Amino acid sequence: MTTGNNNHSLRLINIDSDRHARDYIKRSLTDKGIRVIGEADDLKGGLRLIRGLQPEVVVLELPASASETIEAVRKIREELPATGIILSAHDPSSQLILSCMRAGVQEFVGRPVDAPQLEKAVEHVRRIQERMINTRSRRGTVVSVFSSKGGVGATSVVANLGVALADRFDARTVLVDLSFQMGDLALMLNHPPKYSLTDALHDGVIEESKLRSVLTEHHSGVHLLTVAASPEIGEEITRQHMVELFGTLNTMFDYIIVDVGRHLDDRTVEVLELSDRILMMTSLDVPTIRNVSRYLNIFEQLELDRDKIHMIVNRFHKKSRLSLKDIEMALGMETFWTIPNDFEPMSLGIDQGNPAVKEAPRSKVAQSFKDLVESFAAVDGDQSSSAVVEEPST
Ligand SMILES: Nc1ncnc2c1ncn2[C@@H]1O[C@H](COP(=O)(O)OP(=O)(O)O)[C@@H](O)[C@H]1O
Ligand SMILES: [Mg+2]
Repeated sequence: MTTGNNNHSLRLINIDSDRHARDYIKRSLTDKGIRVIGEADDLKGGLRLIRGLQPEVVVLELPASASETIEAVRKIREELPATGIILSAHDPSSQLILSCMRAGVQEFVGRPVDAPQLEKAVEHVRRIQERMINTRSRRGTVVSVFSSKGGVGATSVVANLGVALADRFDARTVLVDLSFQMGDLALMLNHPPKYSLTDALHDGVIEESKLRSVLTEHHSGVHLLTVAASPEIGEEITRQHMVELFGTLNTMFDYIIVDVGRHLDDRTVEVLELSDRILMMTSLDVPTIRNVSRYLNIFEQLELDRDKIHMIVNRFHKKSRLSLKDIEMALGMETFWTIPNDFEPMSLGIDQGNPAVKEAPRSKVAQSFKDLVESFAAVDGDQSSSAVVEEPST
């Protein structure tokens, strides 16, 4: 993912043992439109985040005992040559600065960290990096589907879109049911999960090998991940787990399609923040449109990038009392896509546990999903050729 000409989409990880410093850095950088996508209080956790999330910039505290940190810098530089590295240090000697620079640090800031100085440092590494960055993305694309109202079709879109993407690009695709209560994505695909995300935790941390073992493969070729098999399990999951989960999935899959539902808390907000696109599901009726409007307001307050929110009108039919124009006026947002109302293939798909794009490939609704996928291709380029680590063995 390229950074563009401003800081807006810059993704940053901050490793700092001091919680106050972390909070201060997050606040001041977020004010400047930089996304702090992960935080850790020690090097070990920090390195895992960095490997998984592949940020554009890392801000790292340099403690008095510097050798471990310098070693970590060397590793980051080796594995992610394009990542900008900034150290915050209290009065470092010129000898120490030199060793750090040799290891791959590009900028220093003092401690306690001062926001304008840090901002300048970020701007500097961003410029260095823009010259270096590889235009080809090495991360998967995260598409979150948000259900503004029950029954609007979010789960149906996740299933059909996922399968259509996997088919079209031969792309490694995982569908994530983010419900913390008890999702219904697996039910819709008639593929009850044996495990859920908590089975992949080891000492509270998500392990990649375990994550692979809790994914299941649907006969359509997509993988499924159920976050919580019951509400009790859902309670164990934290925002940090989301950061780790998506960081890891990003390295394993080309497309990660998330059934977000409509429950908002710090965990879902984290996922929305790290999504490349958010599909806001709506239909042409007043209660749903009111809900969409409320959610769009909340998204604005959360400072989610509006450009990545795409409005999808489901069950579209021309004879409806409200027109697309009406809702575009009401919401101040253009329609990104319409999906026709097509009852037969959709319900057949559910009966057969096989999305309509596969079960009734010639239907209107299947064609709509296939065309939607083409529109993705126009933006994302050919996903199948972007490097992704290994095939998950499940
Ligand atoms: N475009 C469509 N045409 C006809 N029926 C649809 C369409 N999209 C969804 N449905 C049906 O609407 C119902 C609710 O869809 P679902 O995906 O479960 O909604 P949500 O996840 O937003 O609650 C399902 O029975 C599904 O088959
Ligand atoms: Mg649903």
